[in-house]
Amino acid sequence: TWIMSEFVENKVKELREKIGNKKVLCALSGGVDSSVASVLVSKAVGNQLTCIFVDHGLLRKNEAEQVEEAIAKNYELNFIKVDAKDRFLNKLKGITDPETKRKIIGEEFIRVFEEEAKKIGEVDFLVQGTIYPDVIESGVGDSAVIKSHHNVGGLPENVDFKEIIEPLRDLFKDEVRKVGLELGLPHHLVFRQPFPGPGLAIRIIGEVTEEKLEILREADAIFREEIMNSVEEPNINQYFAVLTNIKSVGVMGDGRTYDYTIALRAVQTIDFMTAEFAQIPWELLGHISSRIVNEVEHVNRIVYDITNKPPATIEWE
Ligand code: XMP
Repeated sequence: TWIMSEFVENKVKELREKIGNKKVLCALSGGVDSSVASVLVSKAVGNQLTCIFVDHGLLRKNEAEQVEEAIAKNYELNFIKVDAKDRFLNKLKGITDPETKRKIIGEEFIRVFEEEAKKIGEVDFLVQGTIYPDVIESGVGDSAVIKSHHNVGGLPENVDFKEIIEPLRDLFKDEVRKVGLELGLPHHLVFRQPFPGPGLAIRIIGEVTEEKLEILREADAIFREEIMNSVEEPNINQYFAVLTNIKSVGVMGDGRTYDYTIALRAVQTIDFMTAEFAQIPWELLGHISSRIVNEVEHVNRIVYDITNKPPATIEWE
């Protein structure tokens, strides 16, 4: 195994030699890999690096601010945040098919990135957060066949660059996390659970709208906060809320409601290829359920997903 401080030292030196005084561009998604890759390059060449962070409006509560806080404020680099919420929402109008959502988001992401990159002019290098498992799985991944994993960070075609830099190519995920800690990235970012590139768009069944995004963000934040603060957290590898497209009847005060159902999903898994639903105590689930229906408008029912993968997938779309 690598000794991380040595890895960082060697990599920074290697990157410095390779990049010289040229310009580097990077698409920052807020995920562990692209963040660690960017910060590594920043350590090497400072603000010769420009990171473009596309906020597609499909992130979780406070997520965009957290990424900006963790990266832009603490490292020497040019940070460009693009607010592209309206563009993505417009493109997603009327779209209900999960794979179509992924495709649209992947393509629009590249387009926004290309437009921003064009403003910077010619760059020599493009940084990618590719890690070792991506290298060995590329093209043959099983779940890649089931769902096209249109990840943020696919390759732009209309950006002028000569070479791709992949500083994490030889590392496994746990090593990437160690490098992240070594570089001083915050714990919440380094140990972030997987979050799909298409974001909340594939956790909203049916059409994605601003209203649904708002509901899901709030419900998801409550669920994650409660799990985070519980003794269950270390045993659960991924947990999130889903906005089912179901409305049902409820009562509130002396009135009848007709509002959305939120599904909670929490799984235990080693490799995310198979997973078991997490056996969260009823009491905690009950508490979370009360909080969500009381605090989030337009939600009157909560269900807990008790299916394993297979036959279900971890995500609902
Ligand atoms: P599934 O739902 O296929 O998910 O059991 C397995 C893991 O992959 C994540 N996932 C995605 N990640 N783009 C991503 O970057 C996607 O389109 C996507 N779909 C699923 C999912 O969160 C889980 O960790």
